[in-house]
Amino acid sequence: MLKRKLISLTNTILLFVSFLLVIFYFSISVGNSNFNEEYSKEKQFENGLETSLKELINCTNKNYDQELYQSGSFWILKNFVRAEHGSINCYESVTYTTQSDVKYIDHLIPIVKRWAAPISIALFAPNVSNYFSSTIDSIKYMRNCVPEKDLLRKYVTFHLYFELSDRPVKMPIIDENNEWESDVDCEKSAPYLIFRLKNYSHNRQYFINVGRNVANKAALTYYRMSSDIELYPSKGLVHDFFKYIEANPYLVQDRKRRVFIIPTFEVDKSTEVPLDTTQLYDLLINKKAIYFFQSLCAHCFPIPNKPDYTNKMGTNPDFSTFTIIKRLGKYKAMEHFYIGSENDPIYAEEITWNIKGNKMVHEYVMCLLEYDYHFMQGAFLSHAPGFHTTTQIPVKLRQIAKSIFVNKLKPLFDAHYGYKKGCSMTLTY
Ligand SMILES: *[C@@H]1O[C@H](CO)[C@@H](O)[C@H](O)[C@H]1NC(C)=O
Ligand SMILES: *[C@@H]1O[C@H](CO)[C@@H](O)[C@H](O)[C@H]1NC(C)=O
Ligand SMILES: *[C@@H]1O[C@H](CO)[C@@H](O)[C@H](O)[C@H]1NC(C)=O
Repeated sequence: MLKRKLISLTNTILLFVSFLLVIFYFSISVGNSNFNEEYSKEKQFENGLETSLKELINCTNKNYDQELYQSGSFWILKNFVRAEHGSINCYESVTYTTQSDVKYIDHLIPIVKRWAAPISIALFAPNVSNYFSSTIDSIKYMRNCVPEKDLLRKYVTFHLYFELSDRPVKMPIIDENNEWESDVDCEKSAPYLIFRLKNYSHNRQYFINVGRNVANKAALTYYRMSSDIELYPSKGLVHDFFKYIEANPYLVQDRKRRVFIIPTFEVDKSTEVPLDTTQLYDLLINKKAIYFFQSLCAHCFPIPNKPDYTNKMGTNPDFSTFTIIKRLGKYKAMEHFYIGSENDPIYAEEITWNIKGNKMVHEYVMCLLEYDYHFMQGAFLSHAPGFHTTTQIPVKLRQIAKSIFVNKLKPLFDAHYGYKKGCSMTLTY
């Protein structure tokens, strides 16, 4: 009996030691990346803007090292494959942060073309049903084989996360000279396409908020837009954002809590996602585009003064504030996407994608903290082609959500930040 226990203890220790070895191997592979000068030559700004932003934003630069850390039951490989943009000052750009698994990874292609600035993506990669190996193969393929490979290499940083029970046995060691990806076969079809064709799936819950936090935490810039992988930004947004900030320095100087909502749209499945406001306006008028979740959950993505907002879109406005709202009253359930900063609250990691309402807790905290939401015009996000159809949340999941939101998290946040009348944390669809 004792002997058997000892053996199982030995096994556990062995397992742990081998895991530590993996970690060690991983950490010594961390070198100084080949910082290139190219990025600094094509900054997002005109002369002078950079200096004024540096003083204005007054942020601290982040490190860009690879790291392995734990969050709850998840292990995270931060900066697993780093973008080749080189070092970036925290005031210099806006990072598009997102999460996904291998199935949706190719949405990065349209996103990087439009964003043309750093992208931080956390990929859920359990070693089940080819998920892990397809994830690695897809990263390699995108960095070497697709027409947009240079943009992807330059801007996209990949992080991985999985639970210990789903860990891979073997991981590629990402080296400075990119030897790790030299065996890629561009003649084969894309691994993510094969993956989808074969209908691989995992029966794991998708911990979307673990991914969101990983991607945000790794962002090198003070400003970031935490988005979902199927949402494509309009063109030139990062540049326009900084021009707006420079023209309105009080937006940084007063240190008020605020975010900049980038309104979201959907286009029909046979329509190309618009690049700018003029194109979007035409699509809206021709009913080829609609406001995001317009008929399914209008109060999740409410538009202040919608007729006026739509009309102004027709005049092709510069990127600017349309109006400022709080998450109260008719906006109390809103879940818009926005450009925020490193100071914004983290996402509640126990809320999975399967439960829905996965941004609700985060938004609730922002309500307690009295955030101002600038509702912006002159830029947008658009979902990949195809209108949404009904989302019915099973009653059981609704109950789980309610018990987490209302019984566990709300009392914690109310105690910590102070209860505020009107702030709402209920599932509304
Ligand atoms: C910049 O930040 C540092 C520390 O965060 C602070 O000590 C300093 O006063 C700030 N400078 C300005 C101009 O706000
Ligand atoms: C995934 O796990 C299986 C065992 O279940 C193992 O044979 C395989 O090598 C693992 N894949 C990786 C990439 O480690
Ligand atoms: C994958 O699913 C699609 C649609 O559900 C089906 O037509 C196809 O045959 C499936 N492929 C495999 C390899 O099972």
